[in-house]
Amino acid sequence: MSKTIAICNQKGGVGKTTTAVNLAACLAVLEKKTLLIDIDPQANATQSTGINETQEEDIYEALTLVANPAEATFERLSQIILPVAPEYKLDKLSVLPSSPGLAKLEMELVTALNRERRLELLVKILGSHYDYIIIDAPPSLNLLTINTLTAANSVIIPVQSEYFSLQGVAELLNTIKLVQHNLNPSLKIEGAVLTMCDSRNSLSKQVVEEVKKNFPNRVFATQIPRNIKLAEAPSHGKPIILYDIQSAGCQAYMKLTEEILNG
Ligand SMILES: Nc1ncnc2c1ncn2[C@@H]1O[C@H](COP(=O)(O)OP(=O)(O)OP(=O)(O)O)[C@@H](O)[C@H]1O
Ligand SMILES: [Mg+2]
Repeated sequence: MSKTIAICNQKGGVGKTTTAVNLAACLAVLEKKTLLIDIDPQANATQSTGINETQEEDIYEALTLVANPAEATFERLSQIILPVAPEYKLDKLSVLPSSPGLAKLEMELVTALNRERRLELLVKILGSHYDYIIIDAPPSLNLLTINTLTAANSVIIPVQSEYFSLQGVAELLNTIKLVQHNLNPSLKIEGAVLTMCDSRNSLSKQVVEEVKKNFPNRVFATQIPRNIKLAEAPSHGKPIILYDIQSAGCQAYMKLTEEILNG
């Protein structure tokens, strides 16, 4: 059965895209057929997998198409989904790209039917064709994020290990509760993952304790270290596993993926 995991935190720059891209790539390396959905108008996940954000059609068209069940067939939607470059040898990984144009969908959805459920409709059509669908959410609690939480089976919350990282977590948890109550009762919190950790820093240890208090029994044992290779890989349009498999960042994302697969 396919599983849809949302990567969410309305705080900006905490490692959502890095986590979404590298989790998706690691799953693909482990032979899981994986779709990475980019639902952020910044289109960083799209670019980080080497895909140009100037496609003729992208997530905007896909979310518009699903409003009309007669048009939204798997075959039609597949035309919008792209494989990564063949030389990456990641034939299990596909990407539903985004572009800055997605921003206008938010406005259009405000008065639309099924405005919270467009992505859920899309995932229902695509789901049976993949083992995992990973969704990279934007840094806000807007309608695109509500769509993401409504479409997902579970949510992973990247938390940067720094002093202000827990700002906004209460609001995020409240939004998750509201979605569970009104739109998606089976949504689970997969866990919080600490990102950009620096083990030499005693502040990091304090943050870890605070995060554990906020997410009792729901913090991944794997922590993602601050690692320059992880920051460099997107500029080459590559997940870390193709850019530097030996790096501490790559090892950490492989471990995180195994932790997720082992439940
Ligand atoms: N573990 C890490 N070590 C070093 N740099 C990292 C790490 N994780 C992420 N970065 C870098 O930090 C920046 C922010 O990361 P990322 O884009 O993944 O965050 P985000 O939460 O998706 O941001 P946004 O809220 O804008 O979507 C990027 O430049 C990324 O390359
Ligand atoms: Mg991002």
